[in-house]
Amino acid sequence: MRRPIIAGNWKLHKKTVEALELAREIVRLTEDCTDTEIIVAPSFTVLGKVSEALSGSRISVAGQDCFWQEEGAFTGEVSPGMLLDAGCTHVIIGHSERRQHFGDTDATVNRKTKAALLSGLSVIVCIGETLQEREAGETLSVIERQVRGGLQDICARDIRKIVIAYEPVWAIGTGKTATDVQAQEVHSFIRTIVSRLYSPTDSDTVRILYGGSVKPDNIRGLMSCPDIDGALVGGASLSATSFSSIIRNSK
Ligand code: 13P
Repeated sequence: MRRPIIAGNWKLHKKTVEALELAREIVRLTEDCTDTEIIVAPSFTVLGKVSEALSGSRISVAGQDCFWQEEGAFTGEVSPGMLLDAGCTHVIIGHSERRQHFGDTDATVNRKTKAALLSGLSVIVCIGETLQEREAGETLSVIERQVRGGLQDICARDIRKIVIAYEPVWAIGTGKTATDVQAQEVHSFIRTIVSRLYSPTDSDTVRILYGGSVKPDNIRGLMSCPDIDGALVGGASLSATSFSSIIRNSK
């Protein structure tokens, strides 16, 4: 049995007052949602305060990225230990926006993931093809390259602390969700790769989230697919009402 996860990626949104208000409202609206694991990923500057506001709740906090070095002369970077210090239990690595605008590659995703795991964080590793790649029929080869590259040399014990998020780039922030069939096809393929790299047991237990224009009205269909274990939500996680509806509809 894989426990569903609904994670909210707040991206570059919400300063202190709004972030705290959103966090508290999510707690209030999801108090009875005990079947689903809930994670929020605020921006770095509010992580500590949001973690404090959520302490004692069942909601976990994630960083949106981290660097692979723990300390040193790396201006502007945030280390896994700093995320832990700010109250995070998770970190998102390899989001397509990091790959697109900030130079993340499968190799850096792998280094960041290893460093985060070493420090004790759980990692949400993001993968996904662009529209051009999908139209060229390359979706599965891109996904395979990203999974193998991102997880390279990560041992079986550590795969248990990894969640994979499949986010087709063309579905992010566009209002175009992958159809349930398109998403299921890729999720099932990811599970097959994990089975080959690790074991059938690991592929049965690893949780694979879908991301890309997830809303309260499309989560049910996505969750009805056998290999979709939850969602990584962008825009709809910025409102406590829509985020909590997604959580409610994810069961
Ligand atoms: P949207 O839900 O806004 O499409 O964003 C998805 C995403 O990128 C989550 O990480």
